[in-house]
Amino acid sequence: MEATGERVFIFDTTLRDGEQSPGASMNPDEKLRIARQLEKMGVDIIEAGFPVASEGDFASVRQIAREIRGCQIAGLARADAADIDRAWEAINGAALPRIHTFISSSDIHLKYQLRKTRAQVLKEAIAAVVHACGYTENVEFSPMDATRSDRDYLCEMVEAVIDAGATTVNIPDTVGYAIPDEFGDLIATLFARVKNIRRAVVSVHCHNDLGLATANALAAVKNGARQVECTINGIGERAGNSAMEEVVMALKTRKDLFDLQTGIRTEYIHQTSRLLTQITGIPVQPNKAIVGDNAFAHESGIHQDGLLKEKITYEIMTPQSVGISETHIVLGKHSGRHAIANRLQEMGYGLVGEELNRVFVRFKELADMKKEIYDEDLEAIVYEEVSRSEEKYRFVYLNVVSGNATVPTATLQMEVAGELLQEAGFGVGPVDATFAAIRKITNTNYPLLKYAVNAVTGGTDAQGEATVQLKFNGRSAVGRGAHPDILVASAKAYINALNRLEWLSKDVRKVKIA
Ligand code: KIV
Ligand code: ZN
Repeated sequence: MEATGERVFIFDTTLRDGEQSPGASMNPDEKLRIARQLEKMGVDIIEAGFPVASEGDFASVRQIAREIRGCQIAGLARADAADIDRAWEAINGAALPRIHTFISSSDIHLKYQLRKTRAQVLKEAIAAVVHACGYTENVEFSPMDATRSDRDYLCEMVEAVIDAGATTVNIPDTVGYAIPDEFGDLIATLFARVKNIRRAVVSVHCHNDLGLATANALAAVKNGARQVECTINGIGERAGNSAMEEVVMALKTRKDLFDLQTGIRTEYIHQTSRLLTQITGIPVQPNKAIVGDNAFAHESGIHQDGLLKEKITYEIMTPQSVGISETHIVLGKHSGRHAIANRLQEMGYGLVGEELNRVFVRFKELADMKKEIYDEDLEAIVYEEVSRSEEKYRFVYLNVVSGNATVPTATLQMEVAGELLQEAGFGVGPVDATFAAIRKITNTNYPLLKYAVNAVTGGTDAQGEATVQLKFNGRSAVGRGAHPDILVASAKAYINALNRLEWLSKDVRKVKIA
């Protein structure tokens, strides 16, 4: 269903409030990259910074204002003429510049921080808007700490700044104190009591101290707000701001409730999130809505079963709609037979009946020990359970002579396709000599990608476990071997890898497809 209703403007403050996240500072080049990405996404307004804060902020806002032509560019300023002059200096090169000026409206801030009366602050708010309007008609005003302000005073201030020329009035929940019903009611009160409210766009700016920033923004939208201030990944001062991806996807996914649209090209959401993480180094928690690694990953067997039958059973939006190529089915201990059979099928192993049962039992055993089961793990199980009996190479016997006064020599006996063969190999050490003998007997010379030996138990009588990885024709196979003699373990691992490569190259998968 397409939303037919009004537009909600997306005001992105990743580069201003977002940059106030501890550890999130970005250099001017990085900010420009983010700004370009936001423009590509279809953001309406980019708050590029707080120009009076530092020379660096000023230069960066000015550069963004000059280079980004497809969005409005806002510069933040306190309700003070010098701040506003500086903000204007930074943004006046923009195609569509906006001055965003603010002053606190709560008694708590007035008494303890500003040490001014309500009358004084009201006068300064009006003067700031009038001053900003001397530069541009595009002026936004924010009464800071609005949600803890006296409602009569807030209404008075909002009406006065609109009369003074503000075209956007932003209602900040500066300390993340509001609860959705209450915040929605505050916006409804402004619409009911402020006579000139419809001459301005009502905006909201919510912080996430109680984890309610997105819910509050949506409650405000439900009550008439038509601009939401937000950041990518929800970064921002303290617990952050409303996350853009959450607000936008909620409006899109629940258009049945809102019937509103944004201009955001949601398929860029994932890319933008990753770009920000890469630049700031601030990771996204895996279970973060929309952009977390697990947001489209399903582990429960019941969910996997439902999804495989019909995606809508457990998916309210497609991963593609936010720029992720596909749903991720995580194979782990909660996965059921349906998910395993499906994954095997995708890998080309159409196992059924007894073969599938054996693989499933082994899968469950492994999943109890290992959190996530990857394709290679499944392939190894299939190999062990279904194809082992077809092994071409078998280890029989190994004798190695080594030391500092002799050329290391390995004598090896193997069965190759049922025929008993013996060869000697030489090398720089005993392992090298052993592998040389195997290569001679099998007439192979595949690149060795990995060789490692670990002691499985402690002490000199420890069982050694060797791992060998070989590559052939663009495929690689890992082989493992265990024995108290690490040379025998190594030979067995090499032969195991050869058998698995042989198995892969025969393309047994086609044979096994049901
Ligand atoms: O949280 C806040 O109140 C702000 C204002 C400057 C809008 O960031
Ligand atoms: Zn803020």
